[in-house]
Amino acid sequence: MLPDVLRIQLDGFENGNEEKLIKYSKKSRNIFYVIKNKDKIVGYCVYYLKPVLSLRGFEKQSVISSIATDKNFRGRGFAERLLKGSIEEMKVNGISVILLYVNVNNLPAIRLYEKTGFRIIKQVENICGQNEKCYQMGLRLA
Ligand SMILES: CC(C)(COP(=O)(O)OP(=O)(O)OC[C@H]1O[C@@H](n2cnc3c(N)ncnc32)[C@H](O)[C@@H]1OP(=O)(O)O)[C@@H](O)C(=O)NCCC(=O)NCCS
Repeated sequence: MLPDVLRIQLDGFENGNEEKLIKYSKKSRNIFYVIKNKDKIVGYCVYYLKPVLSLRGFEKQSVISSIATDKNFRGRGFAERLLKGSIEEMKVNGISVILLYVNVNNLPAIRLYEKTGFRIIKQVENICGQNEKCYQMGLRLA
């Protein structure tokens, strides 16, 4: 599946970088979900786990590090179905909070996240890229 994921990633992000995705995947044990249309992979969502000590005790948080749909299949509900499916899987796996970071100008992605229940927590810099402004968004599952 990796060649398809890398193709969609390179196409979807200006700063798409194969080596970086593979390196991070090995380092932080990323979990990949994909969505198919007639046996062809048309989208992927990647997240990693982050155990956090909070006032509620130890919580399993996840961070979605990348999500993208094949350019030729956008606007057809694939990302929404993929994200909703991924959220359901994370619930089953006991994750209580999902976090992600999105460039403040990436309106398609921000709308997608808001539509699936994510809310803006704060604006941060230098996380999506150098000098890039992005929102930290979150969704509490439990
Ligand atoms: C963001 C992205 C994943 C959306 O994928 P998609 O398959 O086209 O999205 P969907 O068809 O499932 O759309 C779901 C919702 O997202 C929002 N959305 C998607 N494309 C949009 C656009 N061009 N403009 C505004 N809102 C948009 C809408 O709320 C839409 O729901 P609606 O159709 O009922 O209005 C896709 O544009 C992409 O891969 N972009 C490049 C990579 C990227 O920026 N990833 C996010 C990084 S944080």
